[in-house]
Amino acid sequence: MTATDRLDPAQPRVEGALKLTGAARYAADHRPRDVLHAVLVGAPVAAGTLRGVDAGAARALPGVTAVLTAADLPEFPELSPPSAVRFMPFTDGRIRFEGQPVAIVLGESIEAAEAGRAAVLVDCEPDPPVLLGSGRREPAMGDDPVVFDKGDVDAARAGAAVRVEHTYEQAARHHHTMETSATTAQWAFDQGPGDRLTLWDSVQASSTVIPVVSSALTVDAENVRVIAPHTGGGFGAKGYIWPHEILSAAAARVVGRPVKLQLRRSDQFSNVGYQPWMAQTIRLAADADGVLLGIEHEVVNNAGLVDTHVEPATEASKSMYAAPSIRLRQLIERVSLNVPTPMRAPVEGPGLWALESAMNELAESVGLDPLDVRLANFAETSPADGRPWSSNRLREAYEEGARRYGWRDRHTRPREDGPWRIGHGMATCSMGSFRFPGSARVRLSRDGSVVVESNVHDIGSGAQTVLSQIAAEELGVPIGRVEMRWGDTDLPRTGPTYGSSTTMGTGSAVAAAARDVQKQLADLGLDADALDAMERAGIDELVGDGSFALPGEAQMNGDGEGTPYAMRTWGAVFVEVGVDPDFGLLRLRRAVGVYSAGRIINPVTARAQMTGGIIWGWGKATMEESDQEPVYGRWLAKNLSNVAVPVNADIPTDLDVSFIDEFDEAASLIGARGIGELGATGVDAAVAAAVYDAVGVRVRELPILPWKVLAG
Ligand code: MOS
Repeated sequence: MTATDRLDPAQPRVEGALKLTGAARYAADHRPRDVLHAVLVGAPVAAGTLRGVDAGAARALPGVTAVLTAADLPEFPELSPPSAVRFMPFTDGRIRFEGQPVAIVLGESIEAAEAGRAAVLVDCEPDPPVLLGSGRREPAMGDDPVVFDKGDVDAARAGAAVRVEHTYEQAARHHHTMETSATTAQWAFDQGPGDRLTLWDSVQASSTVIPVVSSALTVDAENVRVIAPHTGGGFGAKGYIWPHEILSAAAARVVGRPVKLQLRRSDQFSNVGYQPWMAQTIRLAADADGVLLGIEHEVVNNAGLVDTHVEPATEASKSMYAAPSIRLRQLIERVSLNVPTPMRAPVEGPGLWALESAMNELAESVGLDPLDVRLANFAETSPADGRPWSSNRLREAYEEGARRYGWRDRHTRPREDGPWRIGHGMATCSMGSFRFPGSARVRLSRDGSVVVESNVHDIGSGAQTVLSQIAAEELGVPIGRVEMRWGDTDLPRTGPTYGSSTTMGTGSAVAAAARDVQKQLADLGLDADALDAMERAGIDELVGDGSFALPGEAQMNGDGEGTPYAMRTWGAVFVEVGVDPDFGLLRLRRAVGVYSAGRIINPVTARAQMTGGIIWGWGKATMEESDQEPVYGRWLAKNLSNVAVPVNADIPTDLDVSFIDEFDEAASLIGARGIGELGATGVDAAVAAAVYDAVGVRVRELPILPWKVLAG
């Protein structure tokens, strides 16, 4: 079968109609018979001791079926990753953050459960909360490679002609997915570990829900099934397993009825994670030509009082520039907030805010163009360990980006437009290449239809479309003949839908499965007119299996470790920003992003992903901020009305996104690396540089709000 002329890579989303017509069903759209609606009751203080919960009035309300407190729930064991928390709520009487669940109201309707929630009286002995900036700081421990030393940084600094040292901060910010996290839990009882549990869950990695839920609730892992097709946004908030997923199942077991628990928007602030507050100190040592002699990068991010999240932003400095000496240190600060979690463009996203800002400041110190200082420090091989790159077309990305933007002659154009002073900034973009093992099944029927099966999720990035395309291309059938089955742990297990990893890993598994089908056809001698031949041979269906494996059967791989190659994605972003010097207002006027990320399977979904990343970066740079209220220690905003994010009016039409033509055969069978989060990196540093270029004010604390511009 050859039909490549029938394949248009610019395939619109196969699930588009389902979403536009409302037919797509999300986790909380499932209504098992007799389902109860659950609402969490949170602690009203950020720190203290729970004295008691009086649910008498709530239980008396019509439609309130039960109010569960710690006494009604099972004892939960200490949990391990990918549980986001080690300690479930309800395990002791300590309150460690505002909104920590202390009761669960179950109602026949959501309205009844909400009314019940308002009637529950929670009695706490408050303690002074630990505020950001005053918490205990400790070295980050754990699996993340957060301490790194290469060469002699102190000697490099002592001998350097130029030293740049600054601290760059960024506010905490929440993911704010449109669909708040939700879990519907239904049991089939067997009076013991043989109980079977089905969860309809809004998650990014359903297969990882099973071990956490089964150990939390003492139920056999094979008896837990998670169904999670459409997920209404993730951004990392649905990557790990959060207590509400366990609590919905625990409540359903206690009352013997299905339970649906969808977090209220306000509960979302404290019951799932967020990107932590961070401060990063960068010390660069360079010679007079701007060639780096040393990079020192020290990061602190906030964590909870007992639960830990390390945001390893130092990773960015390990892999970016050809510095002979590198020192990386990572701390956490424990405060009275819920635990943070990865958020779209974690790790390098924050890390490049600091490193790329410092590189822009280095450029100024040595009198070089910001682009030239990066070219002068281009890493021909991995600075961490000298491995060659699997593929790295960053130089072309710089050049093409500069050409499309008109970077080299930027200052020959007008510097003002009405009230706006115009500034230009640029930065390098980069992410590690998270790869996870995966598997997929492809079925070819003799009527020519194809079914692709793999347990991915669709968090809005177009996974089904791209995976269907890969199967269609491999088998030479029109994409309209391909049906994708996904979002169910009964399907072949594959990697999570996070870490920019899905297309690369699961896409390769789908391609391998399709090639297995082709091989079976060939083995049967059914090559030329396969479908006719299947018909004649009486074969209804050929089933191919494919997998994507990592060296040593590793379960994750962040930069090609265990292979001869270091793997990263790359790009360059250039932004034009207008600054109103009287009011401190900022406007994004245009942006150019050019990326090196391996083969691009679908230019439509890829462009949408990168455009979204740039918008996301603009929001981080100029708007988003979750503040800890300075007296009570709770999140200040508890609904979306206090949350500033970019809207259409903030975004110019002139977002020019393109990709370097590339096929990375070391990274994956299909030649792809990951793009999901790459576009969101570097934007903040480019924007800060553009503000400085426009009005001469360096803001090193995100978001760049008008008052900070005016204060400068
Ligand atoms: Mo993203 S933080 O990998 O969902």
